[in-house]
Amino acid sequence: MELELEQLNPKACKTYMFGNEGRRVVIVDPVLDEVDTYMHLLEDRKLDLEAILETHTHADHISGAAALQDRTGAELFMHENAPATCLGSENRFGDGDILELAGVDVEVIYTPGHTRDSVSFLLPGMLLSGDALFLDEGGAGRDDLPGGDAGAHYETLNKFLKLDDSLVVYPAHDYRERLPSSLAIQKDSNPHLKKAMGSKEEFIDYITNLKLGPADWMKDVLKANYACALEPGDVWIPADQSSCEVKGTLNLGTNEQIVESMTVRELKARMELNDEMLLLDVREPFEINGALGKIDGIKNIPITQLTSKLNDLMHFKDKPVVSICKIGGRSFTAGQILKQEGFKQVYYLEGGMIAWNNAHAS
Ligand SMILES: [Fe+2]
Repeated sequence: MELELEQLNPKACKTYMFGNEGRRVVIVDPVLDEVDTYMHLLEDRKLDLEAILETHTHADHISGAAALQDRTGAELFMHENAPATCLGSENRFGDGDILELAGVDVEVIYTPGHTRDSVSFLLPGMLLSGDALFLDEGGAGRDDLPGGDAGAHYETLNKFLKLDDSLVVYPAHDYRERLPSSLAIQKDSNPHLKKAMGSKEEFIDYITNLKLGPADWMKDVLKANYACALEPGDVWIPADQSSCEVKGTLNLGTNEQIVESMTVRELKARMELNDEMLLLDVREPFEINGALGKIDGIKNIPITQLTSKLNDLMHFKDKPVVSICKIGGRSFTAGQILKQEGFKQVYYLEGGMIAWNNAHAS
């Protein structure tokens, strides 16, 4: 019987199920939002979940591993560096380990860079690459989150370069409906893999110069996953964001844009001049109405809707625009999107609403 691999999710996070022997299956990188669906699927097809694997600690979604472990009794396995508290010491694997699961020999390759606990799984004819390698121009997972290390990522990509060209790459994310394809195709089309063929210094420069906006919310998600969170609402996660990917759904060139900051003091001085200026708050509506409140006169367009609502802002293309969020992560990205679209005077509020409120409290 041939090894079957199935992708289970409707969105950008990819969860794979495989098995080669009767009813036993393994699920890799489950997401909490979809755990009910997995449970129905296992029941409907009368499958036994033998094990749950994670390629790494995720920063863009709450993992479904802890919930699935609770509901099925299947054990979770992760790399020995994984900080997850719901993982026993006997359930940790290292580089080169062969796990015999559901009739399949799964070889673990330690592939750090995106995180310190990143692994890829080598199955017959397939490479489950986690966020260590995405497809085509998607590149790979970002290296600027806690535990990220561009130098380690270079070594990881060089491990991939030595693997069999015919392996089909199945990443943990894809944001543009790209189809899994061979490592040979990735060597031609994937900017990360191509850069890894050069020197380590050049690669680190390339990663450093991607100038990704800060992603404060992702640090909260990491913490939730360290704690094996079981509630989908435990942390705020923006919908429809390219999150882990370095290029993602942003137009080419957006990541390279530099956005100037504006301090609370500077913003107040400008507001007193009464010149025409757009205060663009890119938080979600529930945050606008929440404890941090809002600045009078803002226009609210959540960051996830900004690219589709640019037409509403054209009046301000040559006028000052100050983008605002909670602490300055999303507003920086919003500023990059506006600059890429040709807006001339774009700033982001340094420290966001937290700094604004602090200035008012003192
Ligand atoms: Fe990730």
